[in-house]
Amino acid sequence: MSVGVPNRLYAAITGIGGYIPANTRSNSDLEKICDTSDEWIVKRTGIKERRILEEDLATSDMAVRAIEDLAAKYNKNLHDIDALLVATSTPDMPMPATANIIADKLGLDNVWAFDMNAACSGFLYALDLGASLIETRRYKNVLVVGADNISTYVDIHDRSTNILFGDGAGVVWLEPSTEGGIMDAYLRSNGSGRSFLNIEGGGSLYPMDAEDAMADKRFLKQDGKTVFKHAVQSMSDACFQVMDRNGLTINDINWLVPHQANQRIIDAVGRALDIPEGRALSNIEYLGNTIAATIPLCIWQNLKQIKTGDLVMLTAFGAGFSWGASLFKWMI
Ligand code: ACO
Repeated sequence: MSVGVPNRLYAAITGIGGYIPANTRSNSDLEKICDTSDEWIVKRTGIKERRILEEDLATSDMAVRAIEDLAAKYNKNLHDIDALLVATSTPDMPMPATANIIADKLGLDNVWAFDMNAACSGFLYALDLGASLIETRRYKNVLVVGADNISTYVDIHDRSTNILFGDGAGVVWLEPSTEGGIMDAYLRSNGSGRSFLNIEGGGSLYPMDAEDAMADKRFLKQDGKTVFKHAVQSMSDACFQVMDRNGLTINDINWLVPHQANQRIIDAVGRALDIPEGRALSNIEYLGNTIAATIPLCIWQNLKQIKTGDLVMLTAFGAGFSWGASLFKWMI
């Protein structure tokens, strides 16, 4: 097996942090609001509850807390950050970027900060861009955040979406390393999938003051079955691509961290890859789908299992459609 290239400069993850709101929305809460049941939700999705951000807070507040968690645990000085990349589909506001707001709340007034929207694949996209910045040798400390306040866009009365989504934020710190780090990423998108998963209202096509946007276009809509089918196929294909071009088999991968959309999707991808039992990590049961935050939060909550030198493969699928997989050696 090949696990890296000699003399290559890698971007290594040297810190990870997370934040999940205190408020919970359980299946029994949803039973009181719409025609559903705890039994159906657990069987069809594996989700028991989700976290919901307080109404007077926004995506940036969760991201700030995740970054503060990372800085405290790994003894990092936030003033060392050269670039702050924020993957989110739920920015605090259309302009400026949520990354700017986060930087300001952290007291960073001289940092390159910007947002990236690739829905549930956002963290993978931003991680690869962050790694590329390190590989140019022009950036030494890059923060990659995945954060979403998706509950704002979920119609609480729509049982096809209210069962799935919750809020949260996760973050990793990237630094140069000659020993190992992010090894590869395969990222793709196909915009013809946009009709199957979207939030139409609030953009320049359907501004929020338009009557139809206020009426029904402000909420997340999806064709669940179509999304499910594409998610399993695309995530599995992306993982095979990454393993093939790195000369690896599934036995070389210590941990698979799939986007947490539905436990049945996670299980189906695991079966397609034939990954040994217990090596596909999951934390969907108590968080649901937190969009760009699922992958860093899943690593953050499973840190005790991941050992230095382990090979970790990430994979995600989301609106766009957008999807991909990436591979790294855990260096902490
Ligand atoms: N409670 C109870 N019954 C329900 C519910 C519910 N919440 N939702 C649907 N049903 C019923 C349906 O009416 C249907 O009844 P019928 O057989 O009498 O017609 C039956 O249950 C089956 O419905 P399906 O829609 O076929 O259920 P499915 O197994 O496909 O599960 C789900 C639906 C959970 C939405 C699933 O399709 C899914 O998870 N899809 C992927 C969605 C996803 O991952 N989206 C996010 C992508 S990431 C991003 O970028 C945002």
